[in-house]
Amino acid sequence: MSLEVIVLAAGKGTRMRSSLPKVLHKVGGKELINHVINSVSKLNPKKIHIVYGHEGELVRTKVIGDYNWVKQEDLLGTGHAVLQALPYCDNNSDILVLVSDIPLITSETLSSLIYSLQNSKLAVLTCKVQDPFGLGRIKRDEKGIIQSIIEEKDCSEDDRLIQEINTGVFIAKKQILESLLRQVKNDNKSKEYYLTDIVSIARSNNLIVDSYTSHNTIECEGINNKIQLAKAERYYQKVTAEKYMNEGLWLLDPCRVDFRGSFTFGTDCVIDTNVIIEGNVELGNNVYIGTGCYLKDCKISDGTIISPYTVIDNSVIKSNATIGPFARLRPGCVLEDEVHIGNFVEVKNSKIGKGSKSGHLSYLGDAVIGKNVNIGAGTITCNYDGANKWKTEIGDDVFVGSDTQIVAPVTIDNGATIGAGTTVTKHVPSDSLVITRTPMKFIEKWQRPKK
Ligand code: UD1
Ligand code: CA
Repeated sequence: MSLEVIVLAAGKGTRMRSSLPKVLHKVGGKELINHVINSVSKLNPKKIHIVYGHEGELVRTKVIGDYNWVKQEDLLGTGHAVLQALPYCDNNSDILVLVSDIPLITSETLSSLIYSLQNSKLAVLTCKVQDPFGLGRIKRDEKGIIQSIIEEKDCSEDDRLIQEINTGVFIAKKQILESLLRQVKNDNKSKEYYLTDIVSIARSNNLIVDSYTSHNTIECEGINNKIQLAKAERYYQKVTAEKYMNEGLWLLDPCRVDFRGSFTFGTDCVIDTNVIIEGNVELGNNVYIGTGCYLKDCKISDGTIISPYTVIDNSVIKSNATIGPFARLRPGCVLEDEVHIGNFVEVKNSKIGKGSKSGHLSYLGDAVIGKNVNIGAGTITCNYDGANKWKTEIGDDVFVGSDTQIVAPVTIDNGATIGAGTTVTKHVPSDSLVITRTPMKFIEKWQRPKK
């Protein structure tokens, strides 16, 4: 029997109180819908159909892959949404339907639900939760057989006490699902066609509805508001941190680090508190990340130390470098082995050769710097003329004195020395000294003005 998946993602997500569609809110740096698609993809379904509607075009740009996008023109409810996708499904498929606001759902749990279809034609994934407010309640008879799902708005006082909830995940034979959905009406408080009504309709057609009850409540709890989003985020971070610690990562405090993307690391890496790792980050062996660092899309090789409060974006740092504290590497930097970038140094789109140093308060942009170069405090590459960006080229073993402006485009050759306070505007030949300092003046016995 082949499996097809229908993901419901057309809703507005009103309770998020945001202009961003709910399914594009993120957990661990990834959109809710992409988490769900990731989990269902592991089941190797024949096809994944995504029902989209509200801000649909934006949603489509954020989901990468080969899916069948089905537009729900009017948002008339979850039952109506599934009906839009069913015509694209094969008649003999098993259909897994799921809401897209359950990012923590695992393929293992979904597999267990799918397995329950062996003895029935329709099954629902349920869960017992402490606070079922807002969710559909599972009503069972005295034998424990599911009779119906009642939405919060339609619950009686007694129904409200039921703690077993509908997770919004169903598996059904296609033809059964279709015939049940055709019988769904919108005579409820919301005037919507509820997917959940297929359960009571199945019972009135004498069909047994099976269920699989997950014990991982957090995995099954949907996200309807920002409080639930934050709760899911914390859980995701905890599970992710524990996975990395099991793989040998030393996290000084697993509660104070956030992983928002894909992350790999070698042996004996240490991450201090309040660090954010985003996008694709790769650490070699023995890399140390100090407190308060933000690392995005970067590769850092063996033995490098990133001191506190350093921001790195889209850059490569080779081995045994020392960066920070308070350094900022903007996109496009490649720093070779043993480079040192110190406090309040900003580097952008620049290559810095082995062993070169810029210890304090400088801006290096669009520069290619050789080996063993010393960049004095307060050096600025003036790379922008108000219209275009220009390149600065500095050879090996150059010494740049403090408070130097290097007006690009310009080249400084190997071994040159730039005196402190110089404004470099022309090519500097190798092994020369260049200096543009105003000579010091002395006025003897100077009288300061008096009040
Ligand atoms: C739904 C269930 C509820 C369950 C809960 C689990 C129904 C009627 N209710 O309620 O029993 O406990 O999920 O989290 O099914 N959507 C569409 N088109 C629509 C309406 C919704 O595609 O016309 C999509 C939404 O984008 C969302 C999903 O369906 O991904 C669920 O919608 P939502 O409004 O969040 O339903 P709940 O009120 O949470
Ligand atoms: Ca929901």
